[in-house]
Amino acid sequence: MNIITFDSEAKLNEAAARIITGIVQTNPSAVLGLATGGTPVGIYKQLVHDYNEGLVSFKKVTTFNLDEYVGLAPDHHQSYSYYMRENLFNHVDVDASRTNIPSGLASDLVEECSRYDQLIQAAGRIDIQLLGLGHNGHIGFNEPEEELSSGTHVVELAEETKQANARFFSEGEQVPSQAITMGVGTILKAKTLLLVVKGKDKAEIVKRALTGPITTDVPASLLQTHPQLTVLVDQAAGSLLP
Ligand code: F6R
Repeated sequence: MNIITFDSEAKLNEAAARIITGIVQTNPSAVLGLATGGTPVGIYKQLVHDYNEGLVSFKKVTTFNLDEYVGLAPDHHQSYSYYMRENLFNHVDVDASRTNIPSGLASDLVEECSRYDQLIQAAGRIDIQLLGLGHNGHIGFNEPEEELSSGTHVVELAEETKQANARFFSEGEQVPSQAITMGVGTILKAKTLLLVVKGKDKAEIVKRALTGPITTDVPASLLQTHPQLTVLVDQAAGSLLP
């Protein structure tokens, strides 16, 4: 595990984007695992900047997102499908037919999960999986549980997660209570993992995830077992690390 601490958000975003562009420059057909939420917004901005500068092309990449809310249509302003188009896909030369996000509207969610797993399998290995970290240690939407699922599955979002994500929804709008998420097994199969964490409010969970016992109570602690894990934190998020 390599942990790098940054004294500014701009430097952190640049470093994260550089890791991703480096992979695409080396392998233009790379398979990218992408995340949503507040953390990667600046990273995607930097990727768009790098694309505009002619440093990288996403023409041949395939992408898989970690998760999607159940019940939100792709054009809902809080769906992760919408988020990805707004923050990245609409601004670079990615081929929309090679971008993959679970459908939160599928009539058979179990079937949708297995379809998603088959797509990931058919694409081969995810070359790099970008990850944010939930306050309760979730990765993707794999919430703390006695047992964690390996493949894509439907989850009940923890109350804490719904509260944290309510900031993105309009007043009076309900945060969906379920999501489809890639499982921890699939995340751990990625060739490289890039965990990015910002903010003082994540300092305690960063410490537990990276230096505490490996336990399903803190799903991110399983990342400690991955041979190629890079963690980028700002000074606040990394402040409790030894
Ligand atoms: C989103 C995802 C989640 C977020 C996590 C942190 O695709 O997988 O695990 O990374 O909830 O969210 P932010 O970045 O909003 O603090």
